[in-house]
Amino acid sequence: MVKTHETPGTHGDLVVLSNVNKHFGALHVLKDINLRIARGEVVVVIGPSGGGKSTLCRAINRLETIDSGEIAIDGKPLPAEGRELAALRADVGMVFQSFNLFAHKTVLQNVTLGQIKVRKKDKHAAEERARALLDRVGVASQADKYPAQLSGGQQQRVAIARALAMEPKIMLFDEPTSALDPEMINEVLEVMQQLAREGMTMAVVTHEMGFARSAANRVVFMADGRIVEETTPDQFFSNPRTDRAKDFLSKILHH
Ligand SMILES: Nc1ncnc2c1ncn2[C@@H]1O[C@H](COP(=O)(O)OP(=O)(O)OP(=O)(O)O)[C@@H](O)[C@H]1O
Ligand SMILES: [Mg+2]
Repeated sequence: MVKTHETPGTHGDLVVLSNVNKHFGALHVLKDINLRIARGEVVVVIGPSGGGKSTLCRAINRLETIDSGEIAIDGKPLPAEGRELAALRADVGMVFQSFNLFAHKTVLQNVTLGQIKVRKKDKHAAEERARALLDRVGVASQADKYPAQLSGGQQQRVAIARALAMEPKIMLFDEPTSALDPEMINEVLEVMQQLAREGMTMAVVTHEMGFARSAANRVVFMADGRIVEETTPDQFFSNPRTDRAKDFLSKILHH
């Protein structure tokens, strides 16, 4: 058997991308991406617009197919379709910039639906878990409302609870706070900080440098479809190696 790289204290890597390539027509959006995320690790992905960050996240739970290379979660290649794909989507929780809640379902129903349909839980158990999670993200009192009746920050916290309800192995966040008013950003970041402290494996696309500095184990800087730098937050912010990263940081830190 081939011995794979193992991070000390873990049981190997939870997510492994090997030589992943993706095109949209003539546009090469993911160029030979190699990325490993260990169990319990928090990876922040940052970089200029159009660099492929969202496509990378979407590829990890197969909302986008890839042209070549391999993606494995927990040692298994991504399934292509059917029940296994639904299970993968539950294992890989995803929170988007736009909250993506079901508009015609209550908050409680939003958080129970997947548990019942995909995880085959009975309604009572699903509701119990949903209420506990809504409490944990601070929106327990909103359970019977519809998404449109909530603030953006509350909706985003419901979206996090909904993903957590599936007992995911990893959580992907794609700019979860960038559509929020400034006063709501922190309430969402705090929930994410808490998750990170509890040991959730997370990949987070964000321009929130405070979050990156305090929660990330590693920063991955992506530009033009490539991983250009991959290092600790301290190292990245204080001493970026490439001109591309220096240029990007000077723009986001001084405006
Ligand atoms: N469905 C699609 N069809 C065609 N091109 C696409 C599609 N989705 C993304 N692209 C293109 O792929 C490239 C990478 O897009 P992506 O959304 O992954 O970038 P990003 O790093 O997330 O950018 P941003 O910071 O603006 O969110 C861009 O040039 C984008 O226009
Ligand atoms: Mg994006």
